[in-house]
Amino acid sequence: MDSLTAATSSQHQALLRRYGASGGPAVGPWNEVMASLLDHRSVRGYKPDPVPPGTLESLVAAAQSAATSSNMQWTSVIAVSDPAKKKVLAEIAGNQKHIEQCPLYLCWVADMTRNALISAEQKVEFETMPWLETFLVACIDVAMAAQNAVVAAESLGLGTVYIGAMRNDPERVARLLGLPKQSFVVFGLFVGYAAE
Ligand SMILES: Cc1cc2nc3c(=O)[nH]c(=O)nc-3n(C[C@H](O)[C@H](O)[C@H](O)COP(=O)(O)O)c2cc1C
Repeated sequence: MDSLTAATSSQHQALLRRYGASGGPAVGPWNEVMASLLDHRSVRGYKPDPVPPGTLESLVAAAQSAATSSNMQWTSVIAVSDPAKKKVLAEIAGNQKHIEQCPLYLCWVADMTRNALISAEQKVEFETMPWLETFLVACIDVAMAAQNAVVAAESLGLGTVYIGAMRNDPERVARLLGLPKQSFVVFGLFVGYAAE
């Protein structure tokens, strides 16, 4: 099979996996990024194997490269490794046991604190800070940063799943992680190698 035929066949297989027998839309340009995006699925069972050294830093670099509204960079991320904390977070998430099992658990924070501190330090009133729109923008930024991390993780052969259930009890999550006022965990994210 020549390389062009192999690429067309892998595209065809990816479209069949995504859309079933119809094969979905007649997509045109194709590459490895497209293949990885169409192969996304959430992973809820993990091997105990740790992620390779530097993986957290790679995912953070990908996240920090996402677009951010008005360049305000509202996102912070906390990697939770303490088993006792993971146990409580699993309980808050309705006993989603995979939180305890997965090697890397990331809590994505809409961080209104950092910009509030900067404006206080600069003695500049941050007029839009109390607006609901500002909070919404922060949550959008967080989602975009986290999705960049997901795409990066999947491109590295890792599985992920978002955990929106952190919002079952956001105040308990904030207390557990020692978040300052005006910061809020929008969702968690598992990262690890998918079990068979
Ligand atoms: C913001 C957000 C929160 C989610 N929260 C959870 C969750 O708490 N637990 C879970 O098992 N899956 C969660 N998911 C994963 C979705 O259930 C999953 O993406 C959806 O069913 C589609 O499946 P797929 O990701 O395999 O395509 C969440 C997804 C998103 C985007």
